Amino acid sequence: MMQKTFGMIKPGPIAAKEAGEVIRLIELNGFNIIRMEKRQLSKQDAERFYAVHQSKPFFGELVEYITSGPVIIMALERENAITEWRNLMGATDPSKAAVGTLRKMFGENIGNNAVHGSDAPETATLELGQFFPDLR
Ligand code: RTP
Ligand code: MG
Repeated sequence: MMQKTFGMIKPGPIAAKEAGEVIRLIELNGFNIIRMEKRQLSKQDAERFYAVHQSKPFFGELVEYITSGPVIIMALERENAITEWRNLMGATDPSKAAVGTLRKMFGENIGNNAVHGSDAPETATLELGQFFPDLR
């Protein structure tokens, strides 16, 4: 099933000048990058994006980190894009992520973990809608 998902390169790899390597791996793994934009998220953007984590103890840090520098937001298309993008990303904690995953290669710690990906069809629709409202 052809499917779209929302992906983000977090501030870490961008500051480290590794965004190009991440994008190359996205392409090599069969994703079609249908939209891509580098932008600085506002606090308001970040709080909306991470609204599901509002009650978590790390919510403040999450918003602070994701607004600490520009991010690259992407609409990705592929067969089973949601699951396949999560597979390429790897486990949330880079120290537990499998060899060959983006978080293993480019993540520093559980906060600075290189990339984001929608975790289900409903969140993909929400997140794509937040950042690419004209896309459908
Ligand atoms: P993401 O949303 O960024 O794609 O990551 P994920 O689904 O693998 O992880 P999720 O549970 O949605 O958590 C969102 C982000 O919160 C940070 N986090 N910190 N300090 C902590 O215990 C903790 N747990 C999660 C991570 O940066 C994670 O990506
Ligand atoms: Mg998540």
